Amino acid sequence: MIQLKVNGVDRKFEGDPAMPLLWYIRDILGLTGTKFGCGVAMCGACTVHLNGEAIRSCVTPVSMAAGREVTTIEGLGADGLHPVQQAWIEQNVPQCGYCQSGQIMQAAVLFNANNALADEEIERVMQGNICRCGTYQRIRAAIKAAAKDRR
Ligand code: FES
Ligand code: FES
Repeated sequence: MIQLKVNGVDRKFEGDPAMPLLWYIRDILGLTGTKFGCGVAMCGACTVHLNGEAIRSCVTPVSMAAGREVTTIEGLGADGLHPVQQAWIEQNVPQCGYCQSGQIMQAAVLFNANNALADEEIERVMQGNICRCGTYQRIRAAIKAAAKDRR
C-alpha cells in the first residue's frame, strides 16, 4: 500500500505501484485539471508538483509519490488563487487552455523559488512545456507580472 498526500489530503493507494501518477490523479481521484498530452515527458501538459518540484506525472509511477506530497492545479492556491494563476487571468494567457494547467504548475515552481526572473531563466524553466496555440509571449508576461507584484 502506498500512502501519499494529494492537495493536502492523506490518501492510500492499493493498486499497481507502477501506474502512472497521472492516471491515479485523473482516473481514481477525479482531478481532471491535469492533462494527458504526449505520455512521454515531452509536452508538460501533465505537470504537477511532487514535494514542491515540477514533475511529469505521465512518466512518474505512483510509487515515486510514496510518503510525499502531490499538488495539482486544483490544490495550487492555498487561499484561493495562487499569484501565478491571478497573473494568468490578468494577462489573459490561455487560448484553448489544454496546456495551461501544466504551464501554471511549472511557472509556480519558478515563482515559489523566488529566482531572478530574467527572460533566459523563464525560457530555461518553461522550455519543456509546449503550447500548440502559441501563448508563449503571454505566459512570459504573466510570469513577469506575478514576480513584479511580489516585490
Ligand atoms: S503528457 Fe506528460 S509530458 Fe506530455
Ligand atoms: S493554450 Fe492551447 S495548447 Fe496552450
